[in-house]
Amino acid sequence: MRPDPGLCRRFQRRLLAWYRRHARDLPWRKTDDPYSILVSEIMLQQTQVDRVIPKYHEFLRCYPTLEALARAPVTEVRRTWYPLGYNIRPVRLHGIARETVARYDGRLPAEEKALRRFKGIGRYTAGALLSFAFRQDAPILDTNVRRVLGRVFLGVRRMRALRGQKALWDLAATLVPKGKAYDFNQALMDFGATWCTPRHPRCPPCPMKGFCRSYPLTLILSPRGGRGRGEGDR
Ligand code: ADE
Repeated sequence: MRPDPGLCRRFQRRLLAWYRRHARDLPWRKTDDPYSILVSEIMLQQTQVDRVIPKYHEFLRCYPTLEALARAPVTEVRRTWYPLGYNIRPVRLHGIARETVARYDGRLPAEEKALRRFKGIGRYTAGALLSFAFRQDAPILDTNVRRVLGRVFLGVRRMRALRGQKALWDLAATLVPKGKAYDFNQALMDFGATWCTPRHPRCPPCPMKGFCRSYPLTLILSPRGGRGRGEGDR
């Protein structure tokens, strides 16, 4: 689906303005080191931000570079990872480090095709690396982003009728503003995690409500009248 270009621009402008006021202060946004960004993105698969932050710092203290991680025994890396869970992730991350050293001279490749050949890097993580580590205009789509785009551009009924992910990936790609994928994608994450949340979306002050296809349905669905909670509405 391709929404009207004027609507796309409005969404982009409003999301970026929202982000300037509400961006979360997160450690992986203070680095441009692709390896550190990779570590954060693998940790953030399946795990909440507040649990990831201390482990992200500890992990990078233990393995400050991709080479350091590649040299470490995998059993030790798994111990360092504890108690984050989903323990295939440290094994995959370690595998990515070893393969990068062996095949790419220790530098993560900046192409989607090459990134997706690594076990543990799917379409989402490749998009995150391309936009956050390599500053390319690549889209991302995870659970939060899917919910935001689905609500704003499709509405509940068309969302329910969707089969597969292609339409939303296409939409996410259409929406990325040229040269601004880094801020735009980080903003989408924060907007989904803290504002347009699953059960308690903050509809009344929402900058998208004038054109959101789910407004005011999300408000009606929300038992707290849209005053909101936080990440993932735990
Ligand atoms: N979840 C996955 N990637 C993230 C990021 N860069 N910031 C916040 N939450 C995330």
